[in-house]
Amino acid sequence: MNHTELEALLQDMSLREKIGQVFQISGQLLAEDSAAMGPMQEMGVTQEDLSLAGTVLGICGAEKICKIQKEYMERHPHHIPLIFMLDVINGYRTVYPIPLAQGASFLPELSGKCAQMAAREAAAAGLHVTFSPMTDLVRDARWGRVMESTGEDVYLNSQFAKAMTEGYQGNDLAGEETLGACVKHFAGYGAPEAGRDYNTVQLTERTFREYYLPAYQAAVDAGVALVMTSFNTVNDIPATVNKQLMRGILRDEMGFDGVLISDFGAIGETIAHGLSSDRADAAKRALEAGVDIDMMSGVYPEQLEQLIRGGKVREELLDEAVMRILELKNRLGLFENPFKGADPEKEHAVILCEEHRALAREAAERSFVLLKNENDFLPLKKEEKIALIGPYVSRKQLLGGWSFLGDSGDTVTVEEAARALMPEWNVTFAKGCTVLDPGTKLVGFGEYREEAYTEEEQSRLWREACDAAREADKVVLFLGEHFLQTGEATSRGILELPQIQQKLLREITAVNPNTAVVLFTGRPLDLRLVRKHAKAVLEAWMPGTEGGTALIRTLTGACEPTGRLPMSFPYCVGQVPVHYDEFPTGRPYHAPDENRFLSKYLDIPNQPLYPFGYGIGYTTFSVSPVCLDREEMTRDGCITAKVTVRNTGDRPGTDVIQLYLHDVAASVVRPVKQLKGWQRITLEPGEEAEAVFRIREDMLRFYTADGTWDSEPGVFEVIIGESSASENKKSFLLV
Ligand code: GLC
Repeated sequence: MNHTELEALLQDMSLREKIGQVFQISGQLLAEDSAAMGPMQEMGVTQEDLSLAGTVLGICGAEKICKIQKEYMERHPHHIPLIFMLDVINGYRTVYPIPLAQGASFLPELSGKCAQMAAREAAAAGLHVTFSPMTDLVRDARWGRVMESTGEDVYLNSQFAKAMTEGYQGNDLAGEETLGACVKHFAGYGAPEAGRDYNTVQLTERTFREYYLPAYQAAVDAGVALVMTSFNTVNDIPATVNKQLMRGILRDEMGFDGVLISDFGAIGETIAHGLSSDRADAAKRALEAGVDIDMMSGVYPEQLEQLIRGGKVREELLDEAVMRILELKNRLGLFENPFKGADPEKEHAVILCEEHRALAREAAERSFVLLKNENDFLPLKKEEKIALIGPYVSRKQLLGGWSFLGDSGDTVTVEEAARALMPEWNVTFAKGCTVLDPGTKLVGFGEYREEAYTEEEQSRLWREACDAAREADKVVLFLGEHFLQTGEATSRGILELPQIQQKLLREITAVNPNTAVVLFTGRPLDLRLVRKHAKAVLEAWMPGTEGGTALIRTLTGACEPTGRLPMSFPYCVGQVPVHYDEFPTGRPYHAPDENRFLSKYLDIPNQPLYPFGYGIGYTTFSVSPVCLDREEMTRDGCITAKVTVRNTGDRPGTDVIQLYLHDVAASVVRPVKQLKGWQRITLEPGEEAEAVFRIREDMLRFYTADGTWDSEPGVFEVIIGESSASENKKSFLLV
């Protein structure tokens, strides 16, 4: 349809029809036999509301969606198609690593391919929109949703937000293999006080704009179709009813003209926030703030008709929202083809196809971060007797907390991969213990019960593990978090492995100190105990359907770990929030300065255990001092910075050379360094190559004291190295 036809459709719609378009219902409410009808009554949602709703959350499957769409459109007065939306966060059925792991790859283009793959599967299954990318900047590992972000760096997150948006949306939103993307959660959701989910966010205007907004901007610039509001407050007003944020910043300043959808129930929750006085007030404020779709709070269908007929809300605001939704349906091609890419046969053919499994495997391999490798403990060697031990050795659940579309039954476990890829090796397997401490209560989607063992069974597991360790030349322990302990509503105040796993670590390394640890986590943990006892440490995150195969290939040297940390791993939880791009303070501490009156702790170091950008491989590299082609730069000029990188080991390898800049003195304090670029360099043993970076004036800009986005003359340091801890620097003058 063209815009004129859309306008005519809008004019012809009744008020109830228009109100229906701005309401999103959960798919369960549409299922005839739905037990979820209960929430309908609680939400004050009527059958009429259901028959007029504009979008649906939480249904997938080509046949089911086609049936619902067909019946719905036949009943609808203007036969307007539904949009089917769902959280396809790290894959649809072929699940690839969680976003935090993707950030570790430092390969946005690879994430873009994964998003494209997810769109291919999800579109064949009938979906039109995904609630991804989540690009909230994160600095606090207590917050369980760090697993959904690509990390603590604004530049890295911006690259991934762009790549994922383009991967999902392709060149044609109406295509049969594309999804509309929805960037979330706008804005600043990743900075809750105390790392407690849904908690208050307090950010200075400058920090908010300089660190938390750019990645959303990158998605908007990439043409993202939707934005989702966040649960938190911004400047003490809940984002979902924050007119200045949504109309002033998102639409007017950032140029977003797509559909703004609330997070689940977020409009109604503004009452609990203590902002909206009641549901009518919440509906009024949200529509005035420019929220186009009410996701499952029900205040729009319940309140808008009375508000508009009572003259309390202008109908033009509703028309504006409905027009944006109709335009989205038009961009998705749903008026011409309401079934878009839904195709049961294609759904069956593409889901978990070998091409997709191979991509998921590559994404997992690229996400692993090797944190320690004493005396080249890894890769393992064929002549060594190996024991693979731990609760994650034969565990299928490697998919992460937001992959309920994936089936862990499809996962290749570590043990399965080892038996397939190490047929001639001498390998034994032992579970050792459960993931969780006995009696741990888990709240998941529905009633989830983790395996439990009697004391006698646990003793047997223990004995088998110790025996296996004793007889082996080398042990690899597979430990980690439970997938229901990371993701939404999973904030933790203690960032350690469960006690039972810590005990296994101590016992096994006491029996055989030649032990490596592989970690399955959705967040940085306090790894002091692991670092102390293990000869090698590999962070595997939640690696997805092909995680086991990717890990065995990595542990046996068929491929090399090249990941770099997208988020600092704290020394302990007391250090959190911790991030590399901190301000220097007036009393910077540089160990081992004995001066008491410096910005430091009495009992722990300032530095994280493992810093942003850190990771090692199976070889070593040297990096030469920074060389600049000039010492001064004008605003319209540029400087070329380079280092020579050499493979000083005996195996081929890849290094990720990172460029950071530091504005030494400015009208506001500036971070000690900020990531501005990186290059992956692959070298044979003894080979060397140059990493060359062009530094332009626009890379030096920031929000100056008077709030303008600009650079200021002065001294800048160029830091080029293998992580944010590098001090390999050289200065230049911007004149
Ligand atoms: C959740 C999440 C959001 C998700 C939405 C729909 O509460 O905050 O990220 O997209 O609901 O599932």
